Amino acid sequence: MISLHYDVVAVGLNAVDVLVRLPATVIPDTKHMVRELMIQGGAPMGTGSSAVAMLGYATGFVGRLGRNTISEIAIDQFKKYGVDVNLIVRDENSRPALALVEIDPVTAARTVFVNLDDYGFLREEDIPREVIRQTRVLMVDSYDLNASEWALLAAQNTGCRTMIDFESGDTERMRRLLTLGTDVLLPLECGRQLSGEKSPEKVLEALSKLTPGQLIVTDGARGSWAWKAGQVLHQPALSVPTKIDSTGCGDAYHAGYVVGLLEGWPLEWRMEFGTWLAAQVIRQVGGRTALPRREELAARGADSLSEGLRQKVIELSQKN
Ligand SMILES: Nc1ncnc2c1ncn2[C@@H]1O[C@H](COP(=O)(O)OP(=O)(O)OP(=O)(O)O)[C@@H](O)[C@H]1O
Ligand SMILES: [Mg+2]
Repeated sequence: MISLHYDVVAVGLNAVDVLVRLPATVIPDTKHMVRELMIQGGAPMGTGSSAVAMLGYATGFVGRLGRNTISEIAIDQFKKYGVDVNLIVRDENSRPALALVEIDPVTAARTVFVNLDDYGFLREEDIPREVIRQTRVLMVDSYDLNASEWALLAAQNTGCRTMIDFESGDTERMRRLLTLGTDVLLPLECGRQLSGEKSPEKVLEALSKLTPGQLIVTDGARGSWAWKAGQVLHQPALSVPTKIDSTGCGDAYHAGYVVGLLEGWPLEWRMEFGTWLAAQVIRQVGGRTALPRREELAARGADSLSEGLRQKVIELSQKN
């Protein structure tokens, strides 16, 4: 049964991650016993949608998966994090992306290897246009640009906000699609690719000519920058004393921003909440491991938030 009433629909990459936090010394051509090695669902939209669902919003993921072990893991992971799987199309042979993630034990930086053999790229008929039209926020990434474009087009001239999280892909096509986003949140590197500029300020200024949407660029521990009526706002990242694994920080940032859209929060709070959610994720191995549930928000250190937002987040954590 497909519910027509989602708060959020995500269209984009779905992956199964195999993550390992590397030992302090890696000796090639030997075996290492390790404690932190796991399999978990991943990818920008896969993890972004999970983060929103964990915070209590009705969230659906649109994907194409097969009848094989790795697809079953992906489905199982969506269910575990509360993402509705009714918008997932099943066929015999498709599977999610498979990602190998090596985590640096000192810096928490992650190196990712991705394989897309037999990936279930979406077909036009897989896009639930009617559902998207009635959804509050659509999230898309750049790993299946055909699907992102169909979904973005379905959302035009409706009340649905469209959040774009492009990371890499065909430059000209991504530049063209930016105009369809009401909220465009890009890693700085992608912003550079699309604008030809270097600094966050110049990147935002150049991109503002391509989209009427709210523009933000993120740059890891250096934080994020937004374009607001010709001015640039900077939101610093939170300093986290024990950083373990930065996998999924960007996905959590986007999810926090989307929660702010759903709650009608101003831009500054959306950025601050995204930053806070990203800082939660970095404390454990795996992009989804440390995602908070709504009722856990107050207990998870929301006291580091600015006064007004802290109040809202505490209220949110008490809402059913
Ligand atoms: N090392 C870090 N320490 C603290 N906060 C971080 C760190 N890395 C990322 N963040 C937070 O997450 C936000 C997004 O991170 P980033 O710019 O790395 O996204 P991304 O490149 O899309 O990453 P991902 O691969 O996770 O999608 C940053 O603006 C910051 O608030
Ligand atoms: Mg990202």
